[in-house]
Amino acid sequence: MGLGDLRRTYDGTPLEEATLDPDPLVQLARWVAEAHAALDGPTEVNAMALATADAGGRPAVRMVLLKDLDARGLTFFTNLGSRKAVELAANPQAALCLHWAPLYRQVRVVGPCAQVPREESAAYFATRPAGSRRSAWASRQSAPAPDRAALEDAMAEVARRYPDDDAIPLPDHWGGYRVVPDEVELWQGRPDRMHDRVRYRRGPDGWVRERLQP
Ligand SMILES: Cc1cc2nc3c(=O)[nH]c(=O)nc-3n(C[C@H](O)[C@H](O)[C@H](O)COP(=O)(O)O)c2cc1C
Repeated sequence: MGLGDLRRTYDGTPLEEATLDPDPLVQLARWVAEAHAALDGPTEVNAMALATADAGGRPAVRMVLLKDLDARGLTFFTNLGSRKAVELAANPQAALCLHWAPLYRQVRVVGPCAQVPREESAAYFATRPAGSRRSAWASRQSAPAPDRAALEDAMAEVARRYPDDDAIPLPDHWGGYRVVPDEVELWQGRPDRMHDRVRYRRGPDGWVRERLQP
């Protein structure tokens, strides 16, 4: 079957303004919780696409994991020398997209993005499995690698340097970023492609909400 023939009906629960929280971050937290409750198995409900652009405006997008969500914004963790980090240093704006296919839901977020305080990254780093903490040391994320063996060697070297699982420090080159939304759009798929879209924008007096055409 060709891609053009793939067609599904999106039959989600209607998005009604009256039931939406006036604060989009509260509403987003509600949707994440609903996705978490409804979708088990291999679906990563906290996976999101992160778009950045370099100083010249050339965009790049990749998946990251949403690791914290509160009134301050959406937090992910990464290598501070990676391509995304270099782009965020040049152009500290990001866009995020979360998608829960079985719920026919999408959320788009746009806003400035800055590193979280070091203590916050350290607190999260400490919760990661030892292997992930060691690979944060071993990998110069986004730089070319000669081959897989070089990466395995780097991992083995880190294991020699930090043999104790409880004593792997936070690398200087690793930490979190928080996207502070000034625009959030909730999308709910509906039959006949007449989808529900509600966009929140941060105004001088708080969030302003409007329905968009599908
Ligand atoms: C589901 C999923 C989750 C991911 N989560 C993260 C993450 O939280 N942090 C991260 O640095 N990379 C994560 N990655 C890898 C990134 O997509 C990407 O390959 C990496 O961060 C390098 O991107 P960059 O070269 O544009 O900086 C994830 C990939 C997938 C498929």
